[in-house]
Parts: sequence; C-alpha cells; structure tokens
Amino acid sequence: MLANIGVTGLAVMGANLARNFARNGYTVAIHNRSVEKTDALLEAHGEEGNFVRTESLEELVNSLEKPRRVLIMVKAGAPVDSVIEQLVPLLDEGDIVIDAGNSHFDDTRRREASLAEKGLHFVGVGVSGGEEGALLGPSIMPGGSRESYDALGPMLEKISAKYDGEACCRWIGTDGAGHFVKMVHNGIEYADMQVIGEAFDLLRHAAGIEPAEQAAIFADWNKTELSSYLIEITAEVLAQVDAKTEKPLVDVIVDSAGQKGTGRWTVISALELGSPVSGIAESVFARGLSSQREQRAVAQTALSAGVEEIRDLPADFVEDVRQALFASKLVSYAQGLDMLSSAAGHYNWDLKLDEIASLWRAGCIIRARLLDEIMKAYADGEAPKNLLFAPTFSRVIADAVPAWRRVVSTAVRLGIPVPVFASSLSYYDGLRRDRLPAALTQGLRDYFGAHTYQRVDQEGTFHTLWSGDKSEIEAVDTH
Ligand code: 6PG
Repeated sequence: MLANIGVTGLAVMGANLARNFARNGYTVAIHNRSVEKTDALLEAHGEEGNFVRTESLEELVNSLEKPRRVLIMVKAGAPVDSVIEQLVPLLDEGDIVIDAGNSHFDDTRRREASLAEKGLHFVGVGVSGGEEGALLGPSIMPGGSRESYDALGPMLEKISAKYDGEACCRWIGTDGAGHFVKMVHNGIEYADMQVIGEAFDLLRHAAGIEPAEQAAIFADWNKTELSSYLIEITAEVLAQVDAKTEKPLVDVIVDSAGQKGTGRWTVISALELGSPVSGIAESVFARGLSSQREQRAVAQTALSAGVEEIRDLPADFVEDVRQALFASKLVSYAQGLDMLSSAAGHYNWDLKLDEIASLWRAGCIIRARLLDEIMKAYADGEAPKNLLFAPTFSRVIADAVPAWRRVVSTAVRLGIPVPVFASSLSYYDGLRRDRLPAALTQGLRDYFGAHTYQRVDQEGTFHTLWSGDKSEIEAVDTH
C-alpha cells in the first residue's frame, strides 16, 4: 500500500508528527539518516498505526502516493537545504515538500521560489506545541501555494489541535507566510514568559512571597482572564522542589535564559519593517542580559543599587501585579499582531488576524483564554487598527492602568528590573500621547543634517537655516 505522507528526520518532533499522522489513520512512510531511529520508532510505537519503514530518501519517495507529500523535520538552516537538494531529483511535478521546522521565513521564501521553478510545491509550516503538541495536536501554520494547501491541508487539519471542534490549522498565505506567523508567535511567547518572570520577581523580592506560595497564586491567576498554558505550567514549575537540595527547583536553575533564535528573528524583522515591538524586543534583550554572567558578577559590587526603602507596598500588591501582567501581555499581543499587519503589506500576504488568533487558541505554547477574545475583536465588524483599540480591550486596559503604573514605579524604586512591564507601559503612553518629543528629534535632525521637517499647520516640507539667519525655507523632502 502506498503511504499518504513521508516524514524524514525522526528526532522527537519528527517522530511525534509521524506518529500523530499514523494515529489519525494515515499511512506514514518514515525515514531517518541513521536507520536506528526509524527502527526505534517502529519498535516503540509501530502498533499505533500504519508505518512504512524506509532506509533511503529514494525508498521514501517511491513509497508515496501522488502527489507525493514529504515532510522534512530536521534542524533549521543548512540541513534543510541539504535534504531538499537530495529530494528534488527524486520528485515529480506537483509533489509537495513540507518543512515543518522552525525555519527562517526568508529561507522558506527562497526555497519556495526555487522549487516552484521546478514545478514542485514547497510548504513552510509553522508547528507549535512542543513535543507533546506534535504528538497530540499542535497548532499548525502552513504557508505555500493555495493549491498545495488543497492537497495537504485536510491532513494537517486532522492532526492539529482542536478548539471547540475547530481545527487549529489554516492556510496562512503564500511562500513564507506560515513560518513568519510562527516566528511572531515565538516572539510573543518570549514576551509572555518574560512578563511572567517579571511578576515572579516582583512577588518574590518586593512582596517576599516564596515560590511554593507563588505556585498557588499563579494557579489562582489561571482561573482569571490570564488563563493560559504558560501560566498553568508556571504554577507547576514554581511548585517543584529539587530532590537533591530540597530547595525550590527554580532556585537551583542557572538564571541565564537560552534561545534558539526565533525571538531574535522576530525583532530583526520588526526593525526592518519599522514595527515597534518593544515588549518583544525587551524580552529578547532580557535573555541576552541574563546570559552576560561575567558582567553580572562584576556588577554585583561595581554598581550601586541606590534603591529606596519602601515600607508600605501598594495595598493589594499581588492583584496589582496580576493586572500589570495582563496589561503588558496584552500589549505584546497587540505589538505582534500589528507587526503581522505591517508584514502583510510588505510581503503581499493576505494575513487574516482573526484566523491567526483562532488557530493559536489551542495546541500552541501561547494558547490562552485571551485569544478567543482577540479573535472576536478582529472578526466582529471593522477590524481595529490596533488590538488595544478594540472596545473589550481598551476597557480592560483602562481598568488595569492605575495598577500597572503602581507596579512599574514600585519596581523602579526597588531596583527590580521590569523591562517588559515598563516598556509596554511606555508603548501604551506613547500611543496615547497627543504630542511626542519626536518633534524635537525632527528639529535636531534638521539642525545637524538638514533632514527637513513638516509643519502641523501647513502642507509641505521645511528647513530652518540654522547656521544662517534662522529663517525657514520650503525644502525638498529628504525625511
Ligand atoms: C513552540 C515553541 C518551540 C520552541 C522554540 C522556542 O511553539 O512549540 O516555540 O518552537 O520551544 O524553539 O525556543 P527558544 O526559546 O530556544 O528560542
């Protein structure tokens, strides 16, 4: 019997996706560079469904029904190109090559264009949900041509997570759109984790609440509008006691956060698009700072704290922190979605923000109750220009602002870093502000570089003769 799909690359994510297809009734041809992994999968899980064991890419390709669907799950970067290079000569027109790893969307665009020239479809698919999601139902963000989605989409929808019975998988848009959206998902994931960390730090070091007690607080918060996978697992991680030392596990974990790169890519891409994802950027920088361990060690003695004694914390500080966390989280989502709007224009993708929010409601790492509301905010009537303008959210955030300000100012006075709480609040205030000091920036640019400016009361572009008689002239717009 010919297989419905082939999977090459059987490390945990690839193996779990292959098993997910098989458990959903598809016949799955499997291949790995070293055959041991293939055999290990068959031995441990072979009875879960129909697998076809193959030892080479050629055998894999020959075992597939047409159009062939070959899913690659190898390390992002050169390994993906290498597998594609080996696969292409074995394929026929109309076959579909799928890259389900965390590839950079620019690589996906390049690969899609190159395979299209050969009559092949290349589909970059964002897959979120970690190892468990891959097996039990991830959130899936496929790019590539619409035509390829017709042949592949139903299978992906079947293995995806479901929210109220709805598949968390939709065609996102052409070429690299799927990987782009997954990248921004990860940027939001970084910010989500950082705001949780900031809340934890404040509760611990401003309010003196130990991890075990915080575990209960986070579990309670998970019953509020903050309800989400990341808050849920925060409660579990904080409750964990290290068997060796009997200390909270969080106290024996080295405090330098790693990163594989998708958060950094989000920020680089946002800079290119001119999209102000300040919360996401601060969360990437916070990981960077945490990893500068040598400098941090020197700073222990080299830098003075200059903190204030605060005798009385704001009355309900824990609730204040919860509200600040929610407001900051909302800003990160707003920034991520705004970045998607900018990208849609720039890359010519028809990104539907309500659909994207809908497929993040289950299966993925940032799944949260909030996403259902976000989906509705974009689906009902005219979509807001910014998520924060949607009536549900502008109201919620208005209620949270006083607490948010109290928390940020308390943190600043105590010397507790809250880069995302603070930058999100600045973003909020920056958006709200009638006049920004950007006017002065423009004046300065005009002074030293004759970069010109526009006036609030007159059309045109102007320049002041700063080194002359300081009169104003109409100028050619040089920005
Ligand atoms: C997911 C995750 C997953 C992975 C990221 C994050 O959506 O399932 O985002 O893709 O955990 O690679 O990794 P870093 O934190 O190492 O960048």
